[in-house]
Amino acid sequence: MKIKTLIAAGGLGKRLQGFRGNESTKVLLEVKKTPMINLQIQKLIEWGLDDFVIITNPQYDQLIKDVTSSIQGISIDYVIQNEPKGISHAFLQAENKVSEDEAIVCVLGDNFFGENLLNNVNFENFVQNQKSLIFTKEVNNPEEFGVASIGQDQKVIEIIEKPKNPASNLAVVGVYIFDYSMFNKIKTLKPSKRGELEITDLINIYIDKSCCEHIQLNSWWVDAGTPERIIELENNLI
Ligand code: G1P
Repeated sequence: MKIKTLIAAGGLGKRLQGFRGNESTKVLLEVKKTPMINLQIQKLIEWGLDDFVIITNPQYDQLIKDVTSSIQGISIDYVIQNEPKGISHAFLQAENKVSEDEAIVCVLGDNFFGENLLNNVNFENFVQNQKSLIFTKEVNNPEEFGVASIGQDQKVIEIIEKPKNPASNLAVVGVYIFDYSMFNKIKTLKPSKRGELEITDLINIYIDKSCCEHIQLNSWWVDAGTPERIIELENNLI
């Protein structure tokens, strides 16, 4: 089964500006002396992935290309998201780089994990049945993430982006598996209140078709968007 990995790497990371002298974009910040984007790709190579599309922003596209071009033995393509219109909109920019028979692993460039999430994933199931797979993690601060409601039958009922009153403490982490129909689904999305095409709204389309599975994670997960979380990530990586 061919697998294409899309990495959303265009976020400017406003909460990290100035941290360790960082004046550029989040994924170029050094984590354990390695630019975050290279650390991310190294991790994904360890997971068995080798065919990547990185979605960048206009300002830092060339720098991200320069930094990642040192990684050998894999294929990396690049597309630019010209305006920050959300995570689903970012992934849509890669449509022409993916073929219809491929499974698609979508990764948020600042999300790191203590285990290989793709172990035991049956990619054919997701491509043939136009399904998606999401991963959840119990957290103390669900209101900062997409939050999943899971029914007694373990089916995903709904995902709500950063809810004020979370229905559970299960955050939806930043690795998602989709099939090629994701692109046409994204084209039907309307901007959210904050003006973005949300990843949670894409997942909700799959849920409405009873085509979304989930796996709950036990190992650590860090969404490295703040200085504290960068340090937490480094401590986890020791
Ligand atoms: C994004 C997604 C959210 C998800 C989170 C995981 O939030 O919108 O659903 O739970 O990533 O890291 P953001 O990091 O853009 O606030």
